[in-house]
Amino acid sequence: MQVWTVANQKGGVGKTTSAVTLGGYAAQAGKRVLLVDLDAQGSMSSYFGIKPQSLKQSSAELLHHEGQVSRQMIMDIVMELPYEGLSLMPSSPSLITLERTAQHRRGFGLVLGQVLSLLEEDFDLVLIDCPPALGVLMINALVASTRLIIPVQAEFLSLQGFARMQQTVDMVQHSLDTVIDRVVVPTMVDRRTQACQQTVRSLRNEFPVDLWPGHIPIDTKLRDASRLGVPANLFQPAAKGVQAYGALYRFLEQRISSQRRVDSEGETFANSDKATKAYWAEAV
Ligand SMILES: Nc1ncnc2c1ncn2[C@@H]1O[C@H](COP(=O)(O)OP(=O)(O)OP(=O)(O)O)[C@@H](O)[C@H]1O
Ligand SMILES: [Mg+2]
Repeated sequence: MQVWTVANQKGGVGKTTSAVTLGGYAAQAGKRVLLVDLDAQGSMSSYFGIKPQSLKQSSAELLHHEGQVSRQMIMDIVMELPYEGLSLMPSSPSLITLERTAQHRRGFGLVLGQVLSLLEEDFDLVLIDCPPALGVLMINALVASTRLIIPVQAEFLSLQGFARMQQTVDMVQHSLDTVIDRVVVPTMVDRRTQACQQTVRSLRNEFPVDLWPGHIPIDTKLRDASRLGVPANLFQPAAKGVQAYGALYRFLEQRISSQRRVDSEGETFANSDKATKAYWAEAV
């Protein structure tokens, strides 16, 4: 099971859109996909017409129980969406409280990973949508992940505060003694504007290895898809922005196969094993 986290501490950069659309492509390719909403705002849940306030149980309860959850309890919370291959673990506003109260709880960074490990046989790909904040929820997502996707809106100041997020990623990598594959994705690109061109250039300088060479253009069809609650690839597959996500999905898939090749030659790209996770439990 692959676990991909979509995160950026900045708000409104296309995280939820990226997670849902990549999930849509993966499901279309025949994968069993679980979308995990870790944002108390519940944008991903709302995308599919689910009101987080009205739910009795959500991702928050699973995290709250700290490792004492069963597969059945998780599956009771997970909802099948009306699109083949797509399921959702919805969020609830109480994630906010959890973010505040759990930050000093020892070992709390591991909880989501433990929850997801019970679903190894149920899903091929998990996509986690993070809140726009650097906190224990993002750390939980990073610890559980094999890959981090960072949407960056192509505008001035888009990299402000980015160094702090990098530090968090580095801390998790160091504690787990692993490398989380990282892909930076320029979003909402309008190539006609100077600011946009300049940002994409500086992204290229900043992330020569991790930057996806393509970009997601501004496309109102992506917004329309979210209004209608349909993954964009099933709504308007020919739209430019949607096609760009298709190209990104194929790029990510290819990158996995080439990493597997490197892996078999002896280098470790995969996520950490149990021993290093135990070390992480000691560290937080
Ligand atoms: N490429 C795009 N072109 C046009 N509109 C877009 C594009 N990507 C996302 N949007 C729209 O921009 C808004 C913000 O996108 P989204 O909710 O995905 O960002 P986010 O990073 O998840 O935000 P938040 O930090 O609040 O969770 C939404 O209305 C979405 O439909
Ligand atoms: Mg969002």
